[in-house]
Order: sequence, then C-alpha cells, then structure tokens
Amino acid sequence: MSEFKCEEVLPYDSKESKKEQISKMFDRIAGAYDPMNHLMSLGQDRRWRRKAIERLASFSPKRILDVATGTGDFAIVAGLSLNPDYLLGVDISEGMMNVGREKVQRLGLSDKISFQYEDATELSLPSDSFDAVTVAFGVRNFSSLSKGLSEICRVLRKEGVVAILEMTEPENWFFKIGYKLYTKLCIPILAKIKSKDQLAYDYLPNSIAAFPQGERMRQLLLSCGFSSVEIKKFTMQTCTFYLAVK
Ligand SMILES: C[S@@+](CC[C@H](N)C(=O)[O-])C[C@H]1O[C@@H](n2cnc3c(N)ncnc32)[C@H](O)[C@@H]1O
Repeated sequence: MSEFKCEEVLPYDSKESKKEQISKMFDRIAGAYDPMNHLMSLGQDRRWRRKAIERLASFSPKRILDVATGTGDFAIVAGLSLNPDYLLGVDISEGMMNVGREKVQRLGLSDKISFQYEDATELSLPSDSFDAVTVAFGVRNFSSLSKGLSEICRVLRKEGVVAILEMTEPENWFFKIGYKLYTKLCIPILAKIKSKDQLAYDYLPNSIAAFPQGERMRQLLLSCGFSSVEIKKFTMQTCTFYLAVK
C-alpha cells in the first residue's frame, strides 16, 4: 500500500516496479534531458538550483551528497560554488549519470565530484557521513517518499542540512490557470519535438499534481527525523525549496 499518491503515479502501463520504470524512463530521455529541462522551465531551473546552493553556503558543507543527481547539474553548481572536499552524486539511471560524468570531466571537476549507482530509498552509504544532502526534482520519483527522506536523514551528520527543490502546482488560482495551460498545451508540443519519450512528459505534470507539497511536506520531513524546515516558493509557485536541518 502506498503512503502518498505520487508513489502510485507511473510513466508506463507496465507491471514493472516504479523504480524500474523510472530508471528506464530517465535512461531513455538522458540525451535530451538538459536542453528539454532548460526549455520547459524557460531557463528557471538554473536559477532555482543557484538560489538553493546560495542558501546552503552559510552551512559551509564539506562533504555533500547529491541524491537523484541525474545529469549532475545540482552537483556541479554545488561543486563550483561551495568548494566542498568531496561531492558524491547518486542515481538509479546510469544513462543520466553518464551525461553527468562527461560534463564533470569537461569542467575539470572529476577530482571533486564522483557518481555512484544508489537507490535513495536504500542507500548503502554509512550513517552520519555527510554535512549536506541536495536533491533537485528527484523526491517526486521515489517509490517510497518517507523511506527516501529517512535515508537522507540517516546519512546526514547531526545538524547536517538537506536542500530539496521540487516542482509544484501553484496554489494561487491565477498562477494555477497559467500553469495548467502551460503543462497541458506547451509541454506536450515540446516533448513531441524534442524528446523520444512522450509518456515521460505526461508523467511529469501527473506526478507533480500528486506530490504532497508545502505544509504536508514539512510534516513529512519532521516525521522522517528533521528538526526544522524552511519553505520558499519560486517563480509563480511552480517550484518549492525545502531546507531542513537534522
Ligand atoms: C528530474 S531528474 C533530476 C536530475 C537532477 N537532480 C537535476 O537537477 O536536473 C530526476 C532524477 O531522479 C532519479 N531518481 C528517481 N528515483 C530515484 C531513486 N529512488 N534513487 C536515486 N535516484 C532516483 C532519476 O533517475 C533521475 O535521474
């Protein structure tokens, strides 16, 4: 039985588990992921990651884990701005991480940033081993949201901090109309032109709509072991930033 509606939203009509479907979907779209992401968010995704990392700067984290790292954009901004000793990006899609590995190598960051296959809901990493964890647009895809957030809390040291960015449906009715028009009309057209997998871009608004946001997410983070949660909304409430301290 799933705890949250988003855990039941799947990209494909198949008997495979959510984890298998998600990793296949991201392997399929990996090559087009970065340009499609920047296009769909009208370049805002870069700004959201930058803002989240700016907020993390005051914690001066030296050991950082980027969960659901994908093609490594959040890890790269963190690596460049926060100058950590060590940054590990983990994901269940090797296709996405291969794109990330190439970018990291091109930027000369290979001695600082590395990638490893890991499922966020059952991390093989030791407890209390990171100063900060970052997750951009990843938690919505977990097969169990509370397992993933509890694992993140476990690997953080005491007073360590997690920075989460996630897409959200605006609550303000005016922004919501604009968001609905954009996701129903523009995204399918962009997906048809740019991506090999249209279903992946049907999954996107469906999973966003089913994700527990705002206060519900705060309560969930608290129940997963965090002690304080800060929430900020970006760009007409389409993206929410959560900062939680262990
Ligand atoms: C929308 S992408 C985000 C990539 C990147 N963080 C960014 O800022 O663009 C979501 C990523 O989450 C990964 N993911 C989904 N479920 C996961 C899990 N249980 N454990 C680790 N990674 C997961 C996917 O494979 C995918 O690469």
